[in-house]
Amino acid sequence: MAPCSALHAGALLGLAGHLLMHLLLLLSSGARAQEVSARSYTNYTVLRVTPTTDEQVRTLRGLEDRGVQWWTPPRRNFPCDAMISPDKRNEVVGVFTSLQLQPTVLHQDLQDSIEAENEADRRVRRSTPNTRTWTPFPTLPRRAVPRYQARVDKELQPLLTSRFAPGDAYINNQRYLDFEEITTYIKELAANHPNKVRLHNIGFTHQKRNMTVVQLSNCFECKYKAVWVDAGIHAREWIAPATALFALSQLAENETSTAEMREHQDWFILPVANPDGYEFTHKKDRMWRKTRSNTSVPGCYGADPNRNFDFHWNEIGASSNPCSETYAGRKAFSEIEALNIRNFLYANKERFKLYISYHAYGNFLLYPWGYTADNPDDWKLLRSVAEKVNAAMVQAGSQEYTIGSSTQVLYPAAGGSDDWAKGVAGIPLSYTIELPGFDFGFQLPPSYIDQVARQSFEGLRVFAAEAKKVTRGRSRSPTSRPSQRSFG
Ligand SMILES: *[C@@H]1O[C@H](CO)[C@@H](O)[C@H](O)[C@H]1NC(C)=O
Ligand SMILES: *[C@@H]1O[C@H](CO)[C@@H](O)[C@H](O)[C@H]1NC(C)=O
Ligand SMILES: *[C@@H]1O[C@H](CO)[C@@H](O)[C@H](O)[C@H]1NC(C)=O
Ligand SMILES: *[C@@H]1O[C@H](CO)[C@@H](O)[C@H](O)[C@H]1NC(C)=O
Repeated sequence: MAPCSALHAGALLGLAGHLLMHLLLLLSSGARAQEVSARSYTNYTVLRVTPTTDEQVRTLRGLEDRGVQWWTPPRRNFPCDAMISPDKRNEVVGVFTSLQLQPTVLHQDLQDSIEAENEADRRVRRSTPNTRTWTPFPTLPRRAVPRYQARVDKELQPLLTSRFAPGDAYINNQRYLDFEEITTYIKELAANHPNKVRLHNIGFTHQKRNMTVVQLSNCFECKYKAVWVDAGIHAREWIAPATALFALSQLAENETSTAEMREHQDWFILPVANPDGYEFTHKKDRMWRKTRSNTSVPGCYGADPNRNFDFHWNEIGASSNPCSETYAGRKAFSEIEALNIRNFLYANKERFKLYISYHAYGNFLLYPWGYTADNPDDWKLLRSVAEKVNAAMVQAGSQEYTIGSSTQVLYPAAGGSDDWAKGVAGIPLSYTIELPGFDFGFQLPPSYIDQVARQSFEGLRVFAAEAKKVTRGRSRSPTSRPSQRSFG
């Protein structure tokens, strides 16, 4: 009798606990108020196939009109990841089968992976009392994909025990910070290091958020030549802002390790290049990519800021459809975020020798052009720098990166920021870096931030040294002509 009633009481307690948990979930969502109405990806799957023939690639690309969103667009001999809505799943898997492609599963149920990411986030918040957003939180139901959850458990555990010392200003790279936290962090950094760190508000976003560039300098009056780094032009590529933030925290606070990088060289880092979109991915739709401006089509928002720069704008690899993920915008620089970046870069263009834009994912080190398959005159220099950068990252433990021009390695895409930086601003070294996604894609568990950020930083070290050797306006490649051309 006793065991039975104990069981009964236990079940009741379990039920009460369950209800309490839901209540707490509701209450605590005050901190994340909009989460309640966030877009759900329940029963969405993410599958990976690797086509080997052009015929397969053509058929796969055609699936775009049939319920598939490609996280990485189909190319021959590259892993191509498809996000598939539940109602289209059977049909799409049928197409894979007919092409004799054996898909592997990245996310069985994408919503479970998103919730696992949220849970990991809460656990780190719980364990780091010095983060201002700390909130006690009950344990969540473990609906997460076992594979994802197991990795989160295994790799998060050591991090959970390594607490930050009070007053430690090093970035918390154990979770993905939201826009407000990033803003708070860089303001603190500037306040703590007035002789080394300055903030530039380069303009407001569509929704009136500040776009803040962090300048790191040993001597502000000296006006040294400089390196530009931006991240998160595409909102859902969370590892990119995290990597940029780690870089700026090292440059500001890891004195001895970064002395050479800062010697006679300034850094301008824009850790969140699309704040409205980034905030939207945290609160409403984890997979949002574009800005959040209004378009001519009701219900379709935003343009792709990386198709919105005024250099061969909308000629190829971009869409004129406001509902498309690669919508080029109403006109070049219709997006205020792209325009703000343009204005700041252009006004200071003589100072920049290196432009870097962090994206995710797929391990690519890309140089211009994206608008044509032709190489820039000084492609040999661009390539050899990228090879050295790759070697340094691999040395630091990274997987290899694929190196090449955007068009040749990925696909044509006009209106990109890297093309504009080289073609219009005349910045000699210009790169888009697609950081690793492993077998998670955009939904990279936060336990990966530290390794990706550190390995990428070793690449930045090499970039910085190479930038010092380059002369602005003229590349050192013997066959090249000046790369500075006068476009609008
Ligand atoms: C998800 O799929 C499961 C199993 O097929 C089904 O029972 C459930 O109703 C689906 N949920 C939603 C929200 O579509
Ligand atoms: C935004 O930028 C304005 C103008 O530069 C500045 O005065 C203000 O303090 C900034 N606000 C925040 C929240 O950073
Ligand atoms: C400072 O830089 C060194 C050398 O790269 C590195 O080993 C160390 O972990 C860095 N310190 C922190 C706190 O990140
Ligand atoms: C953009 O659309 C929203 C929602 O439809 C509307 O409230 C807002 O006024 C629009 N803004 C502009 C500048 O047209």
